[in-house]
Amino acid sequence: MKILVGNWKMNTTPEEGISLLERISNLLTNEVVGDVRVVVAPPSLHLIPSVEKLWENPEIAVAAQNCHHKDSGAFTGEISPEMLLNSEVDAVILGHSERREYFKETDDLVALKVKAALKHHLIPIVCVGEKLEQRKSGTFLNDTWTQLKIALSDLSPEGLADVVVAYEPVWAIGTGEVASPDQAQEMHAFLRGKLKETFGTGELPILYGGSCKPSNADDIFAQLDVDGGLIGGASLNADDFLLLVEKLRKS
Ligand code: PGA
Repeated sequence: MKILVGNWKMNTTPEEGISLLERISNLLTNEVVGDVRVVVAPPSLHLIPSVEKLWENPEIAVAAQNCHHKDSGAFTGEISPEMLLNSEVDAVILGHSERREYFKETDDLVALKVKAALKHHLIPIVCVGEKLEQRKSGTFLNDTWTQLKIALSDLSPEGLADVVVAYEPVWAIGTGEVASPDQAQEMHAFLRGKLKETFGTGELPILYGGSCKPSNADDIFAQLDVDGGLIGGASLNADDFLLLVEKLRKS
């Protein structure tokens, strides 16, 4: 399955967000999209208007950028997976490196969130990836696998079948420095092999993320084990995002 996710992060006012979504939705014809599953992840405040806007265009799915692992309670500022489900949100990005770094999310917490998302029929888009020091020291393959193994621990085979993985080397996120196609393929193939060995399935979609844009996407999407992209900066420009959808469809 080919998947392209636009992670808007903490960008756009509600008005700007809806007009970006309108532009994407108007340009996204059946021809452009083909077999690509297109997902947008706007800030939480825009989730409900985005879902409503997309009633006319069910080709585009909506994801949250994070959620809590509990259904409800005294957790000021948080959003629960139950609320997302009730708002007809389809998916949720979990364990993004910015959440890990700035909000101190641990592998164990990410695992709780993945389970909670699946319990509420949300597709978890689970982010993993090494820091620059780990790449330099040569431990990056196993370090990234450890993150993923913990995030997916104790899932049922049915749960596992609904998970989407995103490999995002931290050193490539928002830096303009992209992993080379070989580096991406090496990690994706490694993770797929480990998933098969450990959980008995390597069929999960594995997306690449980190400074992916129209000028470098062709070579990355062409890699055997790259099933799509998790796009930050370039997803804020409707034309670039649409070009990425087309490139993925043609890959
Ligand atoms: P970037 O972000 O494309 O701006 O590097 C990717 C991400 O953080 O998901």
